[in-house]
Amino acid sequence: MKNFTSRFRKGYVTVDGVTMPLRFKEMQEEISNWDTNEEDVWICSFPKTGTTWTQEMAWMIMNDLDFETGKINLGARSPFLEVSALFDYRDLAADIKDFEVPPFLNDSLQFVKDQKNPVCIKTHLPYNLLPKQIQKRAKNPKIIYVARNPKDTCLSYYHHAKLLEGYTGDFDEFCKLFLANKVCFAPYWKHLLQFWDRRYDDNILFLKYEDMKKDLPSAVRQTAAFLNKGLTENQIDSLTYHLSFDSMKNNPAVNYELVTELNKKYKLIEYEGAFMRSGSVGGYKTCMSPDIIEEFDRWIYTNTKNTDFHYYSN
Ligand code: A3P
Repeated sequence: MKNFTSRFRKGYVTVDGVTMPLRFKEMQEEISNWDTNEEDVWICSFPKTGTTWTQEMAWMIMNDLDFETGKINLGARSPFLEVSALFDYRDLAADIKDFEVPPFLNDSLQFVKDQKNPVCIKTHLPYNLLPKQIQKRAKNPKIIYVARNPKDTCLSYYHHAKLLEGYTGDFDEFCKLFLANKVCFAPYWKHLLQFWDRRYDDNILFLKYEDMKKDLPSAVRQTAAFLNKGLTENQIDSLTYHLSFDSMKNNPAVNYELVTELNKKYKLIEYEGAFMRSGSVGGYKTCMSPDIIEEFDRWIYTNTKNTDFHYYSN
């Protein structure tokens, strides 16, 4: 894991079987005992599976397509619960003159608590690390889970790790870490299957990145129905346009420019790339070696053979 630390990511710890950044230990109890608001909507996902896309879709639907307020950074509109554990800028803020950490990164739990309800909360936590009230179904906020083919997820995660986490290894090495469940929020399959097994619960909507790519208006309709919001055909058209890859790539409120610019400004990470990278399905085919693809296929087979999830075999 030495390739995966940086000035703001000091190390890793296994929490309840999940690879987590070291600082998560400090917030685990508070999240576990979180007083959950049933009006909130939780966007849950394994990293790099289309979280930002789903978040923007859900936030827009929850807020009656308020494109004006939507110009505010997504991190401030739809806070990322555990983000301060992932990007621990505290020491840097003390070390670097003029270093300003955006409030939603600084103390993310407090930031979520300070929001007016209902909040569209993003989290990469697997089901077993969610607040106890949710796991025990004492509170049932709506949850939207988005899943993506693990090979594309891994490729996207590799670029993300280079761009935002200070990863210095190569792609093959990253694939091995991914397959060994040594990237943050892994194991991938446990993450996905815990939500898949609950997909018929009233408060859970299970989406797939590949379906959103194939037919975005359907995903918008499905999400609006799940959130009990009616949308006109015109609204569906304008939201579909707003959520297209090109629109999102050029939208500074959602394209993570704020963080990449911060990293560049303070020379924390100097890797040329964009968060909105390719937005495609099957991109792994041009980057992954045949050996790694074979390893992935075996891993997919082993992890899904006793389940009814059989979508990602290709
Ligand atoms: P790629 O790196 O494969 O391009 P997350 O938000 O979970 O971190 O996921 C990021 C991935 O979703 C990136 O994948 C990003 O390009 C893709 N993505 C974001 N918005 C998208 C959109 N509107 N259409 C398609 N893909 C999108």
